[in-house]
Amino acid sequence: SPRVRVRVSPRVCASARVLTSASPSVTCTSLTLPLFLCPPTLLLCLLISVQSQNLVTDNVSVVEGDVATISCRVKNNDDSVIQLLNPNRQTIYFKDLRPLKDSRFQLVNFSDNELRVSLSNVSLSDEGRYVCQLYTDPPQEAYADITVLVPPDNPIMKSREDIVSEGNETEITCIATGSKPASTIRWMKGDKELQGKSEVQHTYDRMFTVISRLMLTVTREDDGIPVVCIVDHPAVKDLQAQKFLEVQYKPEVKIVVEFPEGLTREGENLELTCQAKGKPQPQQINWVKVDDDVPSHAVITGTDLLIENLNKSYNGTYRCVASNSVGESYDDYILYVYDSRAGEGTSPSVDHAVIGGVVAVVVFAMLCLLIVLGRYFARHKGTYFTHEAKGADDAADADTAIINAEGGHNNSDEKKEYYI
Ligand SMILES: *[C@@H]1O[C@H](CO)[C@@H](O)[C@H](O)[C@H]1NC(C)=O
Ligand SMILES: *[C@@H]1O[C@H](CO)[C@@H](O)[C@H](O)[C@H]1NC(C)=O
Ligand SMILES: *[C@@H]1O[C@H](CO)[C@@H](O)[C@H](O)[C@H]1NC(C)=O
Ligand SMILES: *[C@@H]1O[C@H](CO)[C@@H](O)[C@H](O)[C@H]1NC(C)=O
Ligand SMILES: *[C@@H]1O[C@H](CO)[C@@H](O)[C@H](O)[C@H]1NC(C)=O
Ligand SMILES: *[C@@H]1O[C@H](CO)[C@@H](O)[C@H](O)[C@H]1NC(C)=O
Repeated sequence: SPRVRVRVSPRVCASARVLTSASPSVTCTSLTLPLFLCPPTLLLCLLISVQSQNLVTDNVSVVEGDVATISCRVKNNDDSVIQLLNPNRQTIYFKDLRPLKDSRFQLVNFSDNELRVSLSNVSLSDEGRYVCQLYTDPPQEAYADITVLVPPDNPIMKSREDIVSEGNETEITCIATGSKPASTIRWMKGDKELQGKSEVQHTYDRMFTVISRLMLTVTREDDGIPVVCIVDHPAVKDLQAQKFLEVQYKPEVKIVVEFPEGLTREGENLELTCQAKGKPQPQQINWVKVDDDVPSHAVITGTDLLIENLNKSYNGTYRCVASNSVGESYDDYILYVYDSRAGEGTSPSVDHAVIGGVVAVVVFAMLCLLIVLGRYFARHKGTYFTHEAKGADDAADADTAIINAEGGHNNSDEKKEYYI
């Protein structure tokens, strides 16, 4: 918004002072009036401020090399002339005429209400306060500050060590040079934000270089995780650099029993394998027996330990030790040699139990079936009449039986027959 100078002198009345302090946009010119003229002074103040609302412009931020547009706008223009001045107060445009020789300035729009001018290929030297001027009485001015933004160069990331040992602290730096204003630098490890320490250095010509340092204590899980340095600046987007952490760590050791699957019995063989993983990969893997010697006939081939013909005297703790440049780790296997027949018969007894169970179930099922059948036939037991004739019983053959039976129908003797 426009500005009007305020000069409050001892001779300006008290009420004018109240007015100026309560609403800073309404101010008085340097009228040095006697006290009795106070009320008219107040009126004049208000009048000037209302009139001064007319001319407006905006500040401009522009990236070096881009185009800046300055717009001087007038409300309720009464044919007053507008002109645009550069920071040295040379006229760039007077209405739609350009007295200045710099052809980077071009007229974009000219009307009663606006003078819009573009400035291409902006450089740092174009920065400053441009003036829109309206030829009223008194003349009005509005100021457009042009700020030139210079993006930083691509950030450069450096780490103190290429490879860090787990548990050790390392330092990573990120440098964003030659920007205006200064950039801000953020850090990410994977998808987690980390806090670095930034230092801003001024360089030539109002430019800035920012160095951020990140101190990081690494774990083996950090191996292969990207660390990203993100540079935030109003003139650029998505400016970042990235580096993958390389962490070396002690071996992780694990003993696996290859043979036997069950108990370790006297006379049998034992085969163990040692699995070791580390960074760098351990070159040396050793088998030892704690507080004792490994049996003399044990065979060690690479990561494998083979003991044939187990003997109770081999009982003890067998240890696989793996080491790399970071350190040493081990895993233990406790050997306990059982009698050669130990555990025998335990599995057959399980089989017997299963067979016994099956037999019991079958017997039970058959019993149930019998009961059901019995109940069924009991319900169908009854008395039946047969038409077998009396006299057929004593017949010598079938024919005689039929003859004997002739007329014997009146015989009312009955016979009972049962289904069982
Ligand atoms: C323009 O920028 C200046 C500082 O450079 C500031 O004092 C002024 O208030 C700004 N004007 C507007 C309209 O934002
Ligand atoms: C100039 O501005 C006026 C009012 O803002 C608008 O109507 C007109 O189209 C503009 N002319 C150009 C060339 O941009
Ligand atoms: C932009 O300005 C620079 C100097 O500030 C000059 O070297 C360059 O040639 C200009 N580019 C164009 C396209 O005018
Ligand atoms: C076990 O070793 C002892 C000597 O250490 C030996 O006397 C014994 O015969 C061995 N037993 C078997 C079953 O080999
Ligand atoms: C980093 O780890 C190594 C082991 O690889 C150790 O020798 C060294 O002292 C550690 N450095 C620091 C600064 O802790
Ligand atoms: C080895 O373990 C067996 C158990 O099967 C035990 O009977 C024997 O005494 C142990 N021998 C030694 C030397 O500890």
